[in-house]
Amino acid sequence: MSKLWGGRFESGVDKLVEELGESVSSDCRLAPWDIRGSIAHARMLGRQGVLSAEDVTAIVNGLEAIAKDIEAGRFSWDPALEDVHTNIEAALVERIGDAGKRLHTGRSRNDQIALDTRLWLRDQLDAIDGALRGLQAALVNFAEAHIDVILPGCTHLQHAQPVRLAHHMLAYFEMFRRDRERMRDVRRRTNRSPLGAAALAGTSYPIDPESVAEELGFEGLCANSMDAVSDRDFLVEFCGACSLVMMHLSRLSEELILWSTPMYGYIEIGDAFTTGSSIMPQKKNPDVAELVRGKTGRVYGSMTALLTTLKGLPLAYNRDMQEDKEPVFDACDTVQLCLAAMTGLIPTITVHEERMASAVREGFLEATELADYLVGQGMPFREAHAVIGRIVLHCAKQSIRLGELSLDDLRAFSSLFGEEALRLLDPAVMVDRRDHPGGTARARVQEALENAKALL
Ligand code: ARG
Repeated sequence: MSKLWGGRFESGVDKLVEELGESVSSDCRLAPWDIRGSIAHARMLGRQGVLSAEDVTAIVNGLEAIAKDIEAGRFSWDPALEDVHTNIEAALVERIGDAGKRLHTGRSRNDQIALDTRLWLRDQLDAIDGALRGLQAALVNFAEAHIDVILPGCTHLQHAQPVRLAHHMLAYFEMFRRDRERMRDVRRRTNRSPLGAAALAGTSYPIDPESVAEELGFEGLCANSMDAVSDRDFLVEFCGACSLVMMHLSRLSEELILWSTPMYGYIEIGDAFTTGSSIMPQKKNPDVAELVRGKTGRVYGSMTALLTTLKGLPLAYNRDMQEDKEPVFDACDTVQLCLAAMTGLIPTITVHEERMASAVREGFLEATELADYLVGQGMPFREAHAVIGRIVLHCAKQSIRLGELSLDDLRAFSSLFGEEALRLLDPAVMVDRRDHPGGTARARVQEALENAKALL
């Protein structure tokens, strides 16, 4: 096989090298950003007098035509040309001749790929922010529609204290709020131009990297040419931020899966987001939530792959770095697909309020409230805890609920119990007594909903 940049070699390249070394099958998706970067680079070379005005015009027109071909699916990618950069450069030379051979002046594929990846990621981060926002909006709508539904809040997956369903769902709103902050933070460090670093040591041409950075909307330059071509931190951070998004989606999925089992019976997910079984006609499976939960693993895998690829790489560029793209693309696609799926699924959920209400009556959820009541009557908390513990044990043995006890029953355990104690056994009263910032009282949840909507 013939060889790229073959001047220094006497023979061609083994065909295994092409198979191992080609990246165009995956990095061709960077073409629009590669072309944007090349156009900005060529224009700068023109302004600096490195390229003639005619060459710049030919290059810009040529690249724009190639961009159209690619978009229309008329471009044929050749793996023998290794990557997106060389494919486009070769097509440019074929189209415009010698001017095309001047585009790569003062530049290397090393700063070029760093540039392309940063430009591409910036757009993905903006898309992901929009997707996270859409999911938050779905959660807010769902919460608002179910503000008066109360369910058992759990710790250890055991009934703990009653909470509003809206409060429960708004906890996820907060997770995705932090995810958006993290994506914004990644964007800040991604948004620096590496161009001018060339292979690693910069270039002796009189370049003006600031103007290229400005044209491409960067907030500034990478400060060190060697770091510029070897830094992939922004990709690792991105995979980290994606991993957290997936972890949050996976926890939400897990709850939806549990809630839609007959054992819980809290919810039913709509037909459009559930699937049937090939053998059991009655089945309605929560596959979408399960797949989201399952795909979390592959996103974590992307981060691990990337970190492992980078460890031990000496400065500056090493070809190992070409392996960064596939995991990052996969993480990026997976996160966007899963965010869209969850955003679509949430509005299809039917809530079985009566199942949640009857669950609230099981598991002695009123116990803490009754202990607090005794504290209010002057009993030290530890003592109150023990008294209520004895009451719960009594009820468990009799197979009755706390709510079935009369005032006299309660008084048998402590004379401090009065009529008002019975009123506290109402779940709606219990939740509304948690009336502090971040609490599950109706007024506080309403406030959280208003804040959430203002944020969106
Ligand atoms: N396809 C390469 C990559 O993704 C571009 C940079 C190639 N640089 C080099 N010196 N071979 O990393």
